[in-house]
Amino acid sequence: MKTAHRALVTGASEGIGRVFAQRLAERGYEVTVVARNSERLDTLLRELPGPGHQKIVADLASPEGVQRIVKELAGERRIHLLVNNAGLGMFGDFSEIPLERHLSLIQLNILALVELTHAFLARAERGDGIIQLSSTLSFLPMPRQPVYSATKAFVTSFSESLWYQCRARGITVLNLCPGATATLFPSRAGGASREIPKFITESPEQVVSFALHAFDRKFGPTLISGWKNRISVLFSRLITRKQLIKVMGSIKQ
Ligand SMILES: NC(=O)c1ccc[n+]([C@@H]2O[C@H](COP(=O)([O-])OP(=O)(O)OC[C@H]3O[C@@H](n4cnc5c(N)ncnc54)[C@H](OP(=O)(O)O)[C@@H]3O)[C@@H](O)[C@H]2O)c1
Repeated sequence: MKTAHRALVTGASEGIGRVFAQRLAERGYEVTVVARNSERLDTLLRELPGPGHQKIVADLASPEGVQRIVKELAGERRIHLLVNNAGLGMFGDFSEIPLERHLSLIQLNILALVELTHAFLARAERGDGIIQLSSTLSFLPMPRQPVYSATKAFVTSFSESLWYQCRARGITVLNLCPGATATLFPSRAGGASREIPKFITESPEQVVSFALHAFDRKFGPTLISGWKNRISVLFSRLITRKQLIKVMGSIKQ
């Protein structure tokens, strides 16, 4: 009997991660959903089609929470697709925000992602894959989110190198860069004093459809979701870094 493929999605209680979990379950994956909010994960599990889904409640900004997922990735039944989606933003003046909050953001957006990727690759086989959630801000440094944009620059650089290293093993690595996406993300990051204009905002469904289409075709290493976002990143390459930082700094959110 053919065993079902398994996917693990971090940050699946809301937003982009939630839609990833739904779409992967529709494709027949058994999905393990990870986040801190247990009730929201239960609601999601009730909605997912097909058998074999499970939740793991874990805070990936804590080493203990990360270890819980590492253990799952090292478990008897292999995970075939890892979606490293959990992430938080943080708007504000770097020096006014307590250092612990910056470190916690780095723990979640970088350290957890690196540890889970390492544990996944220890078991991965030809045909398996990883989708890493980066951001257009990995190319466009945003002075109002200095640590966040730097964490995403790390994710893009790291994932692009991994894409190269993993090709020979037949493992797909997709570095996904959404732009503004309609989720709770900006409000959770302490920003969005005014709404982000609708014309540049994608829905999480658009981002996930785009990502899975690209993943199926093994496009990579980096995919920017949305043509307007692709134009912004292209434009950023035509001006100096100093000009770019000034443009990005003038954007009020
Ligand atoms: N929305 C955008 O505009 C945008 C743009 C570019 C890139 N992205 C990236 O896309 C990813 C998903 O963002 P989103 O917009 O879907 O955000 P979201 O709606 O705020 O969802 C974030 C998810 O991450 C989980 N999470 C947050 N902190 C966590 C922690 N310490 N441990 C475990 N899980 C945690 C949250 O669940 P719990 O609170 O239940 O833990 C939630 O499920 C992030 O990596 C983000 O950087 C977003």
